[in-house]
Amino acid sequence: MSVNPEPSVPAPRALPRIGDPAPPFTAETTFGTLKLEDFKGSWLVLFSHPADFTPVCTTEFLAFAEIHSELRALNCELMGLSIDSVFSHIAWVRNIEEKMGVKIDFPIIADLNKEVATLYGMINPGESKTETSRAVFVIDPQQVVRAIIYYPLTTGRNMHEILRLVKALQTTDAHGVATPANWQPGDKVILPPPRTVEAAAERVAQEGVECKDWYFCKKAL
Ligand code: BEZ
Repeated sequence: MSVNPEPSVPAPRALPRIGDPAPPFTAETTFGTLKLEDFKGSWLVLFSHPADFTPVCTTEFLAFAEIHSELRALNCELMGLSIDSVFSHIAWVRNIEEKMGVKIDFPIIADLNKEVATLYGMINPGESKTETSRAVFVIDPQQVVRAIIYYPLTTGRNMHEILRLVKALQTTDAHGVATPANWQPGDKVILPPPRTVEAAAERVAQEGVECKDWYFCKKAL
């Protein structure tokens, strides 16, 4: 007997995970209609916030604006999202500029029908069914999801960590290395551990590499 899925019930979509292609979308934003593919060739930090005109979100927008030029210098674009209308977004960014003197110079998706939020799993219904959590998706120039961060409604994110994450991913791609805990640009990087006995012997004899043991070696870039 074959089991036919109920035709009127759409199959649940798998949420994107690290290493997956970022789900394509077309969305209304404060900069007009934008597609994910418009960002091909650049890194993209796609983030959601719970709601416009809320205090923690306002602190985050001020902090995102502060790192925006540094992200741009890394060929990384920034785009926000919430389940608010484009008119609400416009009013809020105008308010931030008027009251706090900070221009929000990146697009914000008006995801009123929750389409993009659902596609990316930005809503955590156990916490709120009507607001997006503080999700961050780092998407690379080939539009592959490279990192995902989730924060709850009540905790503002650390923008320096988001910047550090983009720099760490770019360092990994450029040099085929990993980055240790609390790594900052300029610090030594980690060599991927050898996977054969022969490679382990070569690693400890390698010039310019600082090894605690065969599996744990660092080098300066
Ligand atoms: C805020 O951004 O201030 C906020 C939003 C949702 C829940 C709690 C705080």
